Amino acid sequence: MSALSAAAPAAAPDSGSDSDSDPAPNWELLAETLSPAALAALRAQLSAPPPRAASPPPRAEPAPAAAPGSLPLPASNREYGTRAYWDRRFETEESFDWLVSFRDVAGMLGRILAGRSPGLGRGEAEVLLVGCGNSPFSHELYKAGFLRTTSIDYSAPVIASMERQYPPADNPGLAWRVMDMTAMTFADASFDLVIDKAAMDALMVAEGDVWNPDAAVVTQSRAMLRHVERVLRPGGLHLHISFAQPHFREKYLRNEHRVEGESEAEREGYGWSLETETIAGDGGDGCFHHFMYVMQKPGEPAR
Ligand SMILES: C[S@@+](CC[C@H](N)C(=O)[O-])C[C@H]1O[C@@H](n2cnc3c(N)ncnc32)[C@H](O)[C@@H]1O
Repeated sequence: MSALSAAAPAAAPDSGSDSDSDPAPNWELLAETLSPAALAALRAQLSAPPPRAASPPPRAEPAPAAAPGSLPLPASNREYGTRAYWDRRFETEESFDWLVSFRDVAGMLGRILAGRSPGLGRGEAEVLLVGCGNSPFSHELYKAGFLRTTSIDYSAPVIASMERQYPPADNPGLAWRVMDMTAMTFADASFDLVIDKAAMDALMVAEGDVWNPDAAVVTQSRAMLRHVERVLRPGGLHLHISFAQPHFREKYLRNEHRVEGESEAEREGYGWSLETETIAGDGGDGCFHHFMYVMQKPGEPAR
């Protein structure tokens, strides 16, 4: 899968780890997902001599709080699609922020909310983070005034870890739940805002041919998005932050991939509008981006 296979090695150098121990990028996969210009920039970046200590390069990825020398990197990208991998990883890793930090997108988030849901105050918005992992993002959001924030992950060890790090008693309104994002048990129309940062990416590891993805991947991501659509309130927003380029990812977000034998109902699009924003912070070369996909369910924005 593109986002995770590319992002995992990208995050490690930030941590100050020895680049000799980083796995080699999967160039074949990257070539399928990156534009030629971005691919060339990445090759140049990785083959450049190491920077002198006196002038460290701008950071392309947020530094993880935990010492990443201990990160259990998977033997194959497909492992990112298994709960067993995440459970094992979260037994030892305390904190890691994939792709971007809250600070990187706080301004963009504020602008999007002000433009799409002007009546919705931070304090009242019911927010859901899916596949939260051990990222500090949920707590940062909470500290920024989103006082009704629920985070879910299907890995029980990571939810236990987050409850230890950010106890509900000290953070009333910040909730942690073990839950599968492809089979959520929240009531319909429970949330004003659903945020996915690199979570759907984890479903894509067995994507196969990016132009004609594996049916199981299409079905799983569709299950997740149907649930997101269901739990959103009218006018609610779904923000998906990913490494995946728009020409690949938008097809999923519009339900445009076809699966043999699927029903008419399964073919139906999601009711939302879709716009794509490019997230700055590419290390300065102007080529290596992340994206925020902004979906809004029709209807009057809440309150
Ligand atoms: C790449 S990490 C992203 C973590 C975090 N959102 C971040 O940005 O740092 C993917 C996360 O999705 C979780 N995940 C994968 N599949 C899931 C599923 N079906 N339901 C809930 N969580 C899932 C994993 O346990 C992992 O924490």
